[in-house]
Formats: sequence, structure tokens, C-alpha cells
Amino acid sequence: MQEMKIPTAEFKTFSDYKEAKTYLQKCTVPIVIKASGLALGKGVAVCKKINEAEKFLQSAMIEKIFGEAGKEVVIEEYLEGQEISIHAFSDGKTYSLFPTAQDHKPIGDGDTGPNTGGMGTIAPVPWVEKESIENIEESIVRPALKGLTEKGRNFTGCLYPGLKMTSEGPKVLEFNARFGDPEAQSYMRLLETDLLNIVEACIDGTLSDLRVEWNSGYAACIVIASGGYPGNYEKGKIITGIEEAEKVSGVVVFHAGTKEESGEIFTSGGRVLGVTAHAPTLKGALDCAYEGVSKIRFEGMQYRKDIGAKALRFIDTRKHTY
Ligand code: GLY
Repeated sequence: MQEMKIPTAEFKTFSDYKEAKTYLQKCTVPIVIKASGLALGKGVAVCKKINEAEKFLQSAMIEKIFGEAGKEVVIEEYLEGQEISIHAFSDGKTYSLFPTAQDHKPIGDGDTGPNTGGMGTIAPVPWVEKESIENIEESIVRPALKGLTEKGRNFTGCLYPGLKMTSEGPKVLEFNARFGDPEAQSYMRLLETDLLNIVEACIDGTLSDLRVEWNSGYAACIVIASGGYPGNYEKGKIITGIEEAEKVSGVVVFHAGTKEESGEIFTSGGRVLGVTAHAPTLKGALDCAYEGVSKIRFEGMQYRKDIGAKALRFIDTRKHTY
């Protein structure tokens, strides 16, 4: 990002605990600390006090709660703004941008509680205007793909930068080389072109010959998780109501952490189901998805009741129909 001048937070990387701790003393709060390695979305802390940051640093680097993933940490500036997800298919020569999406990472309503892998999405995000999307392409997607090409690492696949929309413009929080989850579930409701044709075009380097079509309207995904997630949770709870949920207009239920035994469906993971809906308006998609959720039952199930609420509030203030 630094080489390609891609906008991101000010950051410093440390593999020495003492150096990291000394650096922290000069930082202002809130401050973000990330385990450098993979930690199932849990290796990040947004610390409102320096002593919280010190504690997290110690857990990652000394107590090694993330194992090898916390051997190196990134200490970075906290960015103020809403988070959105950008995705682009690339065949290494050209790219095709998806509609925008917004995940809801904390477990609790009103963005409270610990971070999860993602508790629900909407797509597209109604307040992200065309000019912002052009800016994101210009300042983030194109330079990232160009930088990889210049290094002889042509990127083929799904590039997914997570962004903060700050008052200074979009800034990158992270790059993923995969679909977002649960962004993918909402995207699959909007994607008109067969995904396999797109994947093949990416592999064959023929993406510029393919017109990738997206449905109009909005998609929403509500994640139903096991009780206790993102901490410890029990598995093996019987799930009922999936068929009833799929009878609701526009609803499709995606399985994430489930297993089938003797014709019954049981929970088998933290995030269990993604209940999606597609409708002409965002409110319609959310209403249908939540009606679908209301049909489903398993012991301890939890889900956020406010997926898309921030976007709907924006729509109310704009008095548009989205
Ligand atoms: N939506 C969060 C992630 O896939 O990382």
C-alpha cells in the first residue's frame, strides 16, 4: 500500500514486544492493534485506553493467545467512519467490480460486544455514491492490481479490500484474496451471470469479453449464530424451520455451520445459517430476511436485530426510496 500510495491508516509493524510497548506510549487513543497472522477475525483490538492496548499486546506477543499469528503485531491509527466491503473479480489483466456491501462485525446490536467473522450484510450500500465508487477504483482497486502485476504476481480471483469511509476519503483496513463472508451470500442473490462462467473467464484471462450482470434491487443476509459465539459454543442443536423460512418471498437460506444426520439438520459451527432475501428495496429485503429468520429455531440461537439499520436511517434522512 505504501509503495502504490494506496490510502490506509498510519501504521507500524513490530516483532519485538518491548519496542511495541515503548511505541504505544507515544500513541493517542483509540488505537488499533492487530495480530499480523490469521486469527479467524478475532486478532484485532480497538483500544480506547493505552492500558487496554498494553494488555492486548501482552496477550498477543507474550501469552501468545493467537499462537504464531501474534508473533508480529501491527499498531495502527484508528480510522473514524463506516466500514464497507469492496470486491472485484480479476483475471490478472482487467477487473470487474461488484456492487458495494456492508458487513456488521460486532456480535451485538448497535455494534456492541466482541468482533465476529460477520453477523449480516446488505448490498448495495445505498449511501455510497457513484463518485465514491470511482474514487475507490482509482485510488485502491487499480493501484493494488497494478502493483501486483508490476511485481510479477498478476492477481487472478476475488480481491476484497475492506474499507473505512473517512472524512478524508476511503482508506483500506485490509485486503483479502477471497469472498467476504457473509458478503458472498448477499452477492449470490444479486449476481445474474453464472458464477462458474466468471470463474472460468478469470482463469482463462477472458474477463474483458464477459459482461457480468447484477440484478437490480437489494439483498440482505442475516447470520444466525450459536449461543456463546464468538466465544465458546455448543454444537449438535437440532434446527427447525428452514423450509418454512424459504417459503417467505425472496428468501434463500445458506448453510454455514450445519450438518445433516438421519434427515435432520444440526448446528455444527459458530455461524450456523445465513438467511438472505432479495427485494426491490433495502427495507423489503431486510423485512423478508427477518421474516425468514423468525421461522427458524434452535437452542441458544442468536442474531443481530439491526442489520441494515444504519443504512435505513440514512435513507430516511434522504427521503429516497432505496
Ligand atoms: N465479512 C468479513 C470477512 O469476510 O472477513
